[in-house]
Amino acid sequence: MTTAISIRDLTKTYESGHKALDGITLDIKRGEIFALLGPNGAGKTTLISAICGIVKITSGHAKVFGHDNTTNYRKARSYIGLVPQELTTDAFETVWNTVNFSRGLFGKPKNVAYIEELLKTLSLWDKKDSELRTLSGGMKRRVMIAKALSHEPDILFLDEPSAGVDVELRKSMWRQIRRLRESGVTIILTTHYIEEAEEMADRIGVINKGKLIVTEDKATLMKSLGKKELLAYLDKALSSIPKSLSAFDLGLSNDGLSLVLTYDPAIEKNGVIAFMDTLKRSKIKCRDVETRQSSLEDIFVQLVGAS
Ligand SMILES: Nc1ncnc2c1ncn2[C@@H]1O[C@H](COP(=O)(O)OP(=O)(O)OP(=O)(O)O)[C@@H](O)[C@H]1O
Ligand SMILES: [Mg+2]
Repeated sequence: MTTAISIRDLTKTYESGHKALDGITLDIKRGEIFALLGPNGAGKTTLISAICGIVKITSGHAKVFGHDNTTNYRKARSYIGLVPQELTTDAFETVWNTVNFSRGLFGKPKNVAYIEELLKTLSLWDKKDSELRTLSGGMKRRVMIAKALSHEPDILFLDEPSAGVDVELRKSMWRQIRRLRESGVTIILTTHYIEEAEEMADRIGVINKGKLIVTEDKATLMKSLGKKELLAYLDKALSSIPKSLSAFDLGLSNDGLSLVLTYDPAIEKNGVIAFMDTLKRSKIKCRDVETRQSSLEDIFVQLVGAS
């Protein structure tokens, strides 16, 4: 396994005295999609900017394919494409010129065939001669992705790629991002959309108040922290949870017609079987039961709440 990015004890304190990053250590593997998840102000943009060399690191270091991004900035930066959170485009320029110009900024020779393919992949080919001001927000975001990929980087950073993008476009963008990964690009994205992390990421890092509180494979994260829920739909409404069920982690719906049991599938005590037994003994009848895995959203709220 090749390490694309290695970050050690990275700290960033802004001039204001605010410590936006507090001892971040993280390795990103070549070819993975890594999602950085965290609430507003957690430090996601600061971390990405620090790796890309836009924000000056206070202490610690970040290396890109072994090249220190401070002492060997140009080399480190050449591997990276960045789609910033804030869209900045030259309104009167055409899509074609903007993307080609970006490539030139990295000192790469013209490659018309590559840019054509890139615009086609991002469904922008029919807009190549349009001025940016005439494009929709979602199209502009795709132009930003095209700009970031114009110099054929090995690593793509996407800071909130779905902000302001509708559901359909978001799904098509996810497909395009996956296709990029298949072509060997390492992808790091930040997102507020849990669904996006759940759908896209191989690994997830949860960041809060400048600290990485968890870094885990998505599947492991969901398995180790994921509790299950059992919904029991009752025959008759209950006004409150009966004493006989007090040993269980239970909630009652507002209409009193369903009980929600939260349980850890790894521990049977107070789990489903004991609950069903107790229901029967308490003469509470249910029409139907349903189980569901708690979502990444529940896990996220749990983690951030506790840190
Ligand atoms: N240039 C700056 N000067 C001073 N403080 C800053 C600066 N940029 C960001 N901060 C502060 O650093 C913290 C982290 O900000 P950052 O933009 O990295 O958060 P974020 O996780 O990207 O949030 P969001 O989800 O809103 O994009 C915030 O408290 C923010 O106010
Ligand atoms: Mg941000």
